Amino acid sequence: MKETLDFISSNTATYISELQEFLRIPSISNSSEHTQEMQRCAKFVAEKLTTAGMNRVEIYQTEGHPVVYGEWLGAPGKPTVLIYGHYDVQPVDPIELWDSQPFDPVIKDGKIYARGATDDKGQVYTHIKAVESLFKTLGSLPLNVKFVIEGEEEIGSGNLEPFVKNNKDLLKCDTVVISDTALYAPGLPTITYGLRGLAYCEVEVVGPDRDLHSGSYGGAVANPINVLAKMISQLHDAKGKITIPHFYDTVVKLTAKERAAIKTLKFSDKAFGKEIGLTELSGEAGFSTLERLWARPTLDCNGIFGGFTGKGAKTVIPSKATAKISMRLVPGQDPKKVMSDFAKHIKNIAPKTVKVTVHQLHSGNPVLTPLDSSATVAASKAMEKAFGKKTVFIREGGSIPIVHTFAKLLKAPVVLMGFGLNNENLHSPNEHFNLKHFELGIKSSALFMKEFAGSK
Ligand code: BES
Ligand code: MN
Ligand code: MN
Repeated sequence: MKETLDFISSNTATYISELQEFLRIPSISNSSEHTQEMQRCAKFVAEKLTTAGMNRVEIYQTEGHPVVYGEWLGAPGKPTVLIYGHYDVQPVDPIELWDSQPFDPVIKDGKIYARGATDDKGQVYTHIKAVESLFKTLGSLPLNVKFVIEGEEEIGSGNLEPFVKNNKDLLKCDTVVISDTALYAPGLPTITYGLRGLAYCEVEVVGPDRDLHSGSYGGAVANPINVLAKMISQLHDAKGKITIPHFYDTVVKLTAKERAAIKTLKFSDKAFGKEIGLTELSGEAGFSTLERLWARPTLDCNGIFGGFTGKGAKTVIPSKATAKISMRLVPGQDPKKVMSDFAKHIKNIAPKTVKVTVHQLHSGNPVLTPLDSSATVAASKAMEKAFGKKTVFIREGGSIPIVHTFAKLLKAPVVLMGFGLNNENLHSPNEHFNLKHFELGIKSSALFMKEFAGSK
């Protein structure tokens, strides 16, 4: 393995320049404006899978953006790993807050800055280059490899789910490895074993059938913005608990062992706040910050609009107001049930003066991955060897909707072996990826393949 690791060290600079090419493609999935770029990006991934040594590579068109598949099954009798990741990225706005162009990658202080650098192109690329390095140094791979790199993760993986359902044989594997999460701290090998789920909707409150003069009508009619604001404020009580009936009924509590393990992780509320410009944190009473982030469900208004939002003043009572509301869910909660409980409740608390409609957007199931699977053990050992430190196990507050589908339909344990950092500005201006973690990620992936091949 030393030969492979040395090869990776001496080729990382080349791999970084290829990653720059990948990052130059504006593969924003959330609007039809970038359809052509999505196709171009899928092609780029497919070409790189071929160069890396995959001997069957296909671009599967879907009703949305394509899924890229690659495989090399030249190790009969050995286990098969399925590597999943996404080539789509979030939109770039607010563009004026970027220090460099989002699709013109810049390297500064050992970090590469571009949209998608850490989420998820840089992380996806670690596995492609790991495979390539293994082929170049050993002439083959220690196990069978399949890649599924999709283009719709950031919009809920709506077309990947049917793809997985219809291609269970194609995707058959012994484990699914995903690098789309974060290290607990720089240089600290980390396996994430839990993700929150998501239920996302839009609530529209309609009052009068047109905008009204706020002098002629103010005082006689309900203002939809005032009503919506009040309704939103009622969704939490004074202790930070969510007031939707049955919301917590099925929540699986942290075990005493988990709570103890979380306590051993270095964490400071103060430092965490400072990093994001805060002197005080906020949340549900009775839980530590990490517990609230990883194992407690939450409800947040993500955007609210209506009425006059232009420059200057305009005296008006708006006809309607809308809020985008997301709920992060934890094991035990079902997004469909939570969404219907929410819709019922929000209509219940609405006054008769307005009409309320709820439009469901995307959703995702929460997951816990097994800590004792041979794949998790192999990944933990691999990261330990690459990073030279003991691996820590954490949960994560974010969501990757397809993980639940993989676990359920492919019946294979999932391993979340990520190399990003939560403060690398994913979904935000100046997204970046630490290039040391890029190199260690490639090494971890190569080491994982060897470990897992030997463990079965
Ligand atoms: N890679 C993230 C999930 C993530 C976020 C992992 C932070 C670790 C730390 C993923 O691309 C993502 O953004 N997921 C969305 C899901 C949604 C768009 C359906 C999320 O969590 O909001
Ligand atoms: Mn991601
Ligand atoms: Mn993301």
